[in-house]
Amino acid sequence: METIEGHLYDFPRYYDLVFGSDWKAEFDFLVKCFPKHATGSVEKVFEPACGTGRLLYRLAKAGYQVSGLDLNDKAVAYCNQRLRRHGFADTAFVADMTDFRLQSEIDAAFNMINSFRHLQTGDAARDHLMCVANSLRRGGVYVLGLHLTPTNVEPSEHESWSAARGSLCVNTRLWMIERDLDERLERFCMTYDVYTPTRSFQIQDSIAFRTYTAPQMTELIDSIDDLEVAATYDFAYAIDRPIVVDSSTEDVVYVLRKRSARLNSRAARTRRVTS
Ligand SMILES: C[S@@+](CC[C@H](N)C(=O)[O-])C[C@H]1O[C@@H](n2cnc3c(N)ncnc32)[C@H](O)[C@@H]1O
Repeated sequence: METIEGHLYDFPRYYDLVFGSDWKAEFDFLVKCFPKHATGSVEKVFEPACGTGRLLYRLAKAGYQVSGLDLNDKAVAYCNQRLRRHGFADTAFVADMTDFRLQSEIDAAFNMINSFRHLQTGDAARDHLMCVANSLRRGGVYVLGLHLTPTNVEPSEHESWSAARGSLCVNTRLWMIERDLDERLERFCMTYDVYTPTRSFQIQDSIAFRTYTAPQMTELIDSIDDLEVAATYDFAYAIDRPIVVDSSTEDVVYVLRKRSARLNSRAARTRRVTS
């Protein structure tokens, strides 16, 4: 099969075919999570690293005012085209999730499948959480899904997905090629096998993720004064089944809430010292 070295996110049509079909559980979870954990009503929602906007346009159809950003201009163009096609404003824009400011406050934000782990350093992760915290109104929530590194069981190293629409079929595989827990780095190889009536080819890329154990994630969240953990769930997305994160937890959805009032500086200092 012909092989193309390319950046997987530069092929939004293939990304969306594979991952866009997997939206219902996350969508249902989000629409129940917002009223359960945010104080006040949730109307304006925002997705940092929105990619093709597979969840954004469905939330727009459900009546939310949506917006999103992504570093990849092709994904943003795809997202905006679909928003327009469904009669909504094209509110996705190209930006870095570590450095953005929104024009008006949002009620909720979400980032469901590891995009946060693309941020390679602790500073980048903190900058991102600060940007989200600054964008949220008080009582608003950030729903953040990622894979943690469990410390008492072997983490998963392979995943694969397949999807077909009309005459297009895409098989995707992801497997680990390197894990360095001291450097907090996992590198995966990812391929799309693309089959069309006239051509079949493979796109190959590698993806780097920063690793987080549960305590490392807690330490990071605790370093952001304005955010607190309202609840934790797993990728079963069962709103009536929150989980307790422990050393065997792998997939986790943190529901972070912007505190209803700023911590006074003494409380913030104490929190940092004890965490
Ligand atoms: C796995 S995709 C997720 C897309 C979408 N959130 C979803 O659930 O389908 C990861 C996305 O993160 C984006 N991304 C990576 N680093 C970024 C950064 N620093 N700022 C904004 N977007 C970023 C990529 O371009 C890609 O579209």
